[in-house]
Amino acid sequence: MRNVVAVGVQWGDEGKGKIVDILSASADIIVRFQGGANAGHTIVAEGRKVILHLIPSGILHENTRCIIANGVVLDPEVLEQEIKELKNLGFLKDDKKLMVSALTHLIMPYHKKLDSLREGAAQKKIGTTGRGIGPAYEDRAARTGIRVIDLLDRKTFSEKVKENLKVKNFLIGRLYKDRPMKHREIVAAYAPYRTLLKKHVADVPSFLAKCIKEEKKILFEGAQGTYLDVDHGTYPYVTSSNTLSGNACCGSGVSPRVIEHVLGICKAYTTRVGEGPFPTELSGEIGEIMRERGGEYGATTGRPRRCGWFDVPLVKRAVMLNGIDSLALMKLDVLDDFETIPICVKYRIGNKVSSEVPVSLAAFTAAEPVYEEMPGWKMSTKGAREIHQLPPQAIAYVRRLEELVGARIAIISTGPERDSTIVLQNPFDL
Ligand code: GDP
Ligand code: IMO
Ligand code: MG
Repeated sequence: MRNVVAVGVQWGDEGKGKIVDILSASADIIVRFQGGANAGHTIVAEGRKVILHLIPSGILHENTRCIIANGVVLDPEVLEQEIKELKNLGFLKDDKKLMVSALTHLIMPYHKKLDSLREGAAQKKIGTTGRGIGPAYEDRAARTGIRVIDLLDRKTFSEKVKENLKVKNFLIGRLYKDRPMKHREIVAAYAPYRTLLKKHVADVPSFLAKCIKEEKKILFEGAQGTYLDVDHGTYPYVTSSNTLSGNACCGSGVSPRVIEHVLGICKAYTTRVGEGPFPTELSGEIGEIMRERGGEYGATTGRPRRCGWFDVPLVKRAVMLNGIDSLALMKLDVLDDFETIPICVKYRIGNKVSSEVPVSLAAFTAAEPVYEEMPGWKMSTKGAREIHQLPPQAIAYVRRLEELVGARIAIISTGPERDSTIVLQNPFDL
């Protein structure tokens, strides 16, 4: 397979960064196609931990080209910081390695301000990351957004900021009673980003078309997860972009015909950060244990992640929504010490039992998990690299999940490090 999309199948933080980093050894080009600095993708390589928010997780490999495509909302302040950190670590030696689409929308200071003011004032909070994601995608849809290409032209940029500030300052000042933002300050703060982005800007769809013609291998890296998708997730407790595999095409400017394989990244249990329904959530001691063993604290905000058992109906629907060909099952080692491991196979909603995720948020909020139990293995799987190193109960758990969700588990992850991975089938080798 040449063109592979990797997406999260739960509520984000499944371990996409680790898998994209590993698969990047087999790919030529890595493309981020949606989301922004709300993402936190962690890679542990050569004893170092790198958390990437915007730059694709293939950047640590010598021979990859990495692309931030049009579907991303780009915060230039975060980009600058990330480039600096990577260079300090000895990566990204050549600026040509990182390309940014001219059509990518910019996160502006007023987006971040409005994100936090709105969350602060809301009765029902979403628990956003405060990175300005929602307001920036709103401007894209309203056709008032500012793109990389606009920043490159001083006059256009200044005019667009001025136009935007009329409305934004009305909201900031009148609705939220906060200090309005100054045109002069924004224009001055963004001037250095013009110089920075000039080094990376490109016509990405044309570049990708050329790569496809040359039969290069492309890995599309999703951010967030299936149930944070603005249409198919637990709306309104979602992010503001489409996170499903289908958006790899619109978000980067390639035809759906080129996608050959969809890899779902899936935790061996479930986590969620921010508000919204979560049927298998464990609010007591077991949830705490899972959080500590899994190090379940947000890579972007540091917030504790909510933890719970594996939810089959959720992942099964994600397999359907994304057209998943194979799955990477992450963090199996976190379950090492549990006596028994419940798997949610159905929901009880009122007096009905269903194996489907209900469309209505109210019904999903009311859903109680119906569990089947698997015996735990009570021994360490940490660092296992071969399937035969896993205890039989762990293999049985993996096989049962495969059977229940209806997709092959092609990769099993047993630790944060690159080599703590059992690769049964690399999609690029198919
Ligand atoms: P992403 O947003 O999907 O890239 O995931 P995050 O980086 O936000 O969160 C995943 C966390 O789990 C990171 O801290 C990873 O280093 C860690 N991780 C990934 N795979 C494994 C694994 O198999 N076992 C353990 N214990 N940790 C893992
Ligand atoms: P990665 O790529 C987990 C969640 C936020 C909040 C909701 C909306 O690391 O998996 P936003 O700031 O996007 O408007 O917040 O989405 N969220 C994530 N949760 N992982 C992420 O990214 C997330 N990005 C956003 O917590 O509930
Ligand atoms: Mg994350």
